[in-house]
Amino acid sequence: MARHRVPRIRSSEITPQAVWEGRREFLRLALGATAALAVPVAAGDVDATLATAFPGLVRTDLGAGLKPTAREVFTSYNNFVELGSGKEAPAENAHLLRLRPWAVRVDGECEAPGEIGIDDILGRFPQEERIYRFRCVEAWSAVVPWVGVPLRDFLARFKPTSKARYVAFQSVHDPKNLPGQRRPVLAWPYVEGLRIDEATHPLTLLATGCYGRPLPGQNGAPVRLVVPWKYGFKSAKSLVRISFVEQMPQTTWSKLQPDEYGFYANVNPSVDHPRWSQKRERRLGEGLLASRHPTAMYNGYETEVAGLYAGMDLARHY
Ligand code: MTE
Repeated sequence: MARHRVPRIRSSEITPQAVWEGRREFLRLALGATAALAVPVAAGDVDATLATAFPGLVRTDLGAGLKPTAREVFTSYNNFVELGSGKEAPAENAHLLRLRPWAVRVDGECEAPGEIGIDDILGRFPQEERIYRFRCVEAWSAVVPWVGVPLRDFLARFKPTSKARYVAFQSVHDPKNLPGQRRPVLAWPYVEGLRIDEATHPLTLLATGCYGRPLPGQNGAPVRLVVPWKYGFKSAKSLVRISFVEQMPQTTWSKLQPDEYGFYANVNPSVDHPRWSQKRERRLGEGLLASRHPTAMYNGYETEVAGLYAGMDLARHY
């Protein structure tokens, strides 16, 4: 396949005023009360790690009122079956993930398919920090300061056609190095999907970092999806391919257990998992004995996303 060069961002395009006024207005309209006021980070406003990892990082006020989970906690309790089953295995085996060279292929129903290297994703798209709630289908949750690119800005570069009704995501496939992929625990590679309006919703993020640093391997380095109103399994890690498709794509967990994991997987406290309640959640870092917190519809992003599902039977399309 022809290698598609993503155009270099000219300095005139980075003029903060024009770019951010536009984005700010767009997010204000899209997000209502939680409007983002994106401001370029002032030089003195960042610690050394953050400045080195993401020069030019833009902080938004998305999630400004949320208290992030401790970094050590969020980065040591993971689901990443390619790196092993169990919550500690992914961090222990993270070094087995080969992070360079790394490229993401974008193909399917689009006018400009191609491949983009991770360093071009980091260098050519303004990186933003946003604090999101994160809710796993297993009923634990966290609050995470992510760094990344709004997925819609990334996808737009590849010019999806009107046939692109869905977007399919594929994670790394490297059974030689990744111990979990040498066993048929899941059908490899891990695949996920979103409707195009979900993929291009302003909250959907292509994450490259968390806690001001590049993503650790166990959290899906070097680039992953983050869809904060859906259960965590939708947020596929270590992406190598993104495809615009016409039909609803298959997804790993719904292939394995269709009665338990649907395509939509929107956080919904009133639709129980067949084997446990989804009404409450345990916050990582609070200990197993701490009282559980009520789970919010769409994980607290109802104002922003409920319109995407107007008229749908949410108990059937889980
Ligand atoms: N992506 C891949 N490729 N492999 C996985 O096993 N697990 C999913 C999701 N993305 C998974 C994945 C699940 S079940 C969850 S809850 C989140 O990643 C966990 O993300 P975290 O470890 O960063 O909290």
